[in-house]
Amino acid sequence: MRGKFITFEGIDGAGKSSHVNWLADTLRQRGLTVQVTREPGGTPLGEKLRELLLNEPMHLETETLLMFAARREHIARVIEPALARGEWVVCDRFSDATWAYQGGGRGLDKTKFLTLEHWVLDHLQPDLTLLFDLPLAVARERIALANRTLDRFEQERADFHERVRQAYLDRAQHFAQRMRVINASRSLPEIQKTLEEIIKTI
Ligand code: TYD
Repeated sequence: MRGKFITFEGIDGAGKSSHVNWLADTLRQRGLTVQVTREPGGTPLGEKLRELLLNEPMHLETETLLMFAARREHIARVIEPALARGEWVVCDRFSDATWAYQGGGRGLDKTKFLTLEHWVLDHLQPDLTLLFDLPLAVARERIALANRTLDRFEQERADFHERVRQAYLDRAQHFAQRMRVINASRSLPEIQKTLEEIIKTI
């Protein structure tokens, strides 16, 4: 039987990364084989592209094409083979991030996004997308506390991140079947309780 594909999304500082490994371990305790991966990245080539994408200034369409190039490699070499073997794939960001960041944040033409998504994803869509949502001020505070060098996206102004957040929320409304909005302002145990309830349903 084909495995399930679960993706994590949210603005920078939403704390989703802390939950990725926790969810994978919870699924493994159920006897499932789980692959944890991320975007941009997830393959040797994808990780090289990630380095460029996070640090090198570039034209919006170049950025979008590189995101989708890394994604194509990731789907072909990691995601599809794992799902076909019956394994579950837990991925930190996927195509909804391009919709939110390049589309919402930077204003990429929607038709161009849809063309690329259709080409690169073919018919692959996540079975479940967990959208970690919280007010921008809280997210910014968390990033500041981490006290590390910020990447190109994290360095963007507040209005950019507000547009990203709104684009994610609009998309979650549109794809309510597969996307679940998680209130990420709560404590770790409270969020884990919600996640446990959600995964029981898939
Ligand atoms: P992420 O791995 O969440 O960063 P971190 O390691 O700091 O938690 O994501 C890296 C950045 O890439 C994030 O700011 C969002 C951005 N991104 C896009 O702009 N478009 C995309 O399609 C993807 C997958 C990520």
